[in-house]
Amino acid sequence: MDFSDPAQRAAFFAVHCDMPREGPGDRASVVRALQLAGPLPARPDVLDLACGPGGQTLDLAELLPGAQITALDGYQPFLHDLEGRARAAGVLDRISIARGDMARLPYPPQSFDLVWCEGAAYIVGFDTALAAWKPLLRPGGVLALTEPVWLKSDPPEPVRACWAEYPAMEDVASARRRAEAHGYQIAGAFVLSDAAWWTNYYGPLETRLEAATARLAGDPVAEAVLAEIRDEIECRRVYPDDYGYLFLVLRA
Ligand SMILES: C[S@@+](CC[C@H](N)C(=O)[O-])C[C@H]1O[C@@H](n2cnc3c(N)ncnc32)[C@H](O)[C@@H]1O
Repeated sequence: MDFSDPAQRAAFFAVHCDMPREGPGDRASVVRALQLAGPLPARPDVLDLACGPGGQTLDLAELLPGAQITALDGYQPFLHDLEGRARAAGVLDRISIARGDMARLPYPPQSFDLVWCEGAAYIVGFDTALAAWKPLLRPGGVLALTEPVWLKSDPPEPVRACWAEYPAMEDVASARRRAEAHGYQIAGAFVLSDAAWWTNYYGPLETRLEAATARLAGDPVAEAVLAEIRDEIECRRVYPDDYGYLFLVLRA
């Protein structure tokens, strides 16, 4: 899919709208990652990169009641969703919402106790993210991110085709080694549950896909985009044991 093409973008966001989350993840995994992160300052400064509509931002705000969270994303409608949800949850006063590019962050070194990024480090590249985000952490600070990984050494061809746009994808051991090579200590790591893919992400996405399929029928560009989304979901349904998202909790 080509995001620079306005017609393809429009079709993509016709499905990817008003979602609880824009990637695999759930509150249980946020809780587990925070446990692995260990004690944080009483009033930690947290940066949630590529926050999307803010599913994990709200979890962080509720689970870290003293935290001040900066939630950054490049797509304004997701930030609008986050703002409404944070207001409804009564946590908006502790969330600074920022539109920006996670590849060009404006924050001075050592600005944060916790940098969080679910389902998006691969967009700038795992290696680049590990290098670029470490200086943002205060001494002893934690980077918590999820990264797609191969869970089997020889995944079947249809699964490889699904992930063709991310040729740098590694297995769990290589991802851990890469983090250590950047000087992080691994506080903990786990693979997201299959439920984390479906409950807040592919489940609601399938519902929106069905509605959009009826609405956009006859538009060949839209139909091609919707078919890609359908294939992605189907890949997960058929091959859940071949790949996953690794939650890495890394101490600087
Ligand atoms: C797969 S979604 C994950 C969103 C959210 N973390 C979640 O798990 O629900 C990827 C997010 O990255 C954002 N994004 C993509 N490129 C970006 C960039 N260069 N800077 C900031 N956000 C970006 C998208 O707008 C989208 O919200």
